Amino acid sequence: MKKCIAVLAGDGIGPEIMREGLKVLNAVSRRFGHTFEYREALVGGCAYDKYGHPLPDETKKVCNNADAIYFGAVGGPKWDTLPAELTPERGALLPLRAIYGLFANLRPAVIFGPLADAASLKSERLKGGLDIMIVRELTGGVYFGKSKVKSLILKDGAVQGDYAVDYMIYSVPEIQRITKVACEAAMKRNKRLTSVDKANVLESSKLWRKTVIDYVQKNYPQIQLNHMYVDNAAMQLATNPKQFDVIVTENMFGDILSDLASAITGSIGMLPSASLSETGFGLFEPIHGSAPDIAGQGKANPLAQVLSGAMMLKYAFGLSKESDAIEQAIMSVLEDGYRTCDIACAATPKDKILLTSGMGNKVVEYLE
Ligand code: IPM
Ligand code: MG
Repeated sequence: MKKCIAVLAGDGIGPEIMREGLKVLNAVSRRFGHTFEYREALVGGCAYDKYGHPLPDETKKVCNNADAIYFGAVGGPKWDTLPAELTPERGALLPLRAIYGLFANLRPAVIFGPLADAASLKSERLKGGLDIMIVRELTGGVYFGKSKVKSLILKDGAVQGDYAVDYMIYSVPEIQRITKVACEAAMKRNKRLTSVDKANVLESSKLWRKTVIDYVQKNYPQIQLNHMYVDNAAMQLATNPKQFDVIVTENMFGDILSDLASAITGSIGMLPSASLSETGFGLFEPIHGSAPDIAGQGKANPLAQVLSGAMMLKYAFGLSKESDAIEQAIMSVLEDGYRTCDIACAATPKDKILLTSGMGNKVVEYLE
């Protein structure tokens, strides 16, 4: 198979973990006889530095002509003070999601058996492993509602201070289409779906809950559906995560809960994601950010990036066997005790602690 991949490494640790992601894709192409053509483009702060915009036209052109987008991470303190529309997050990542209609964000939270000790929960709470699929709505809600900042409010002629507003908006079709994605995922798993909202307070959540109930009853009556308020869902995830199979939730709740889920699985450096459009076009990125504090030191864990590549093979190209081979290689690397420092524990021998490139090389070695 021949595929063209837009490679957007971004800022911070992005380039160093992307290097490992590509190494692993190259190993897959050698083993299975595929051709992956990479077109690299700048995104985020590095693009702003060169072109004056975090998502330049050159980069959009590369993405428009690609079969999938392989994305690293963007952002860093250097660009935090730019006007909102020029920051890496608001000026590049969110627009990419909007431009390509990437409304369905799949965030699997899986514990690789050998990492149970690195997880934040006692291992008896994770007995038999953990395998949750978080389906986060990605192009609606408060991250995309209009916002405004007013700097001086005058009340009766006196200055009252600044205020800012963000609107959380959801429409029925937006809720239905993400529910459908979650139901399809649940049907391939244990047919259990938890919808997370804040329907005891928010109007958008009341609509969310009603729409999910109607949609599941009508289209997927086989699915066992339950509902949880987001605050309770956070507590349940932190104390009894094994009760979950598929979680569907709106944009901001999914953002927060998926970070929490990553801590449960051991490290945020382990969690990949797929962001998909209605036509199946996708962007594949680790859920962690650009970690500027450790950038350039070779310490970053590249496995979330590598696993995002595995998701790209499976979801964008239909290459499930190849995707499974990557996961299997990672499992073997971990079983043999190799760790980056974020997933090392006190018992990890020094010679098994690898740098970013060492971990990429190990995965390649086990894949070949
Ligand atoms: C994520 C990130 C982004 C988000 C940021 C960088 C805008 O936290 O993908 O989870 O909030 O969606
Ligand atoms: Mg996040």
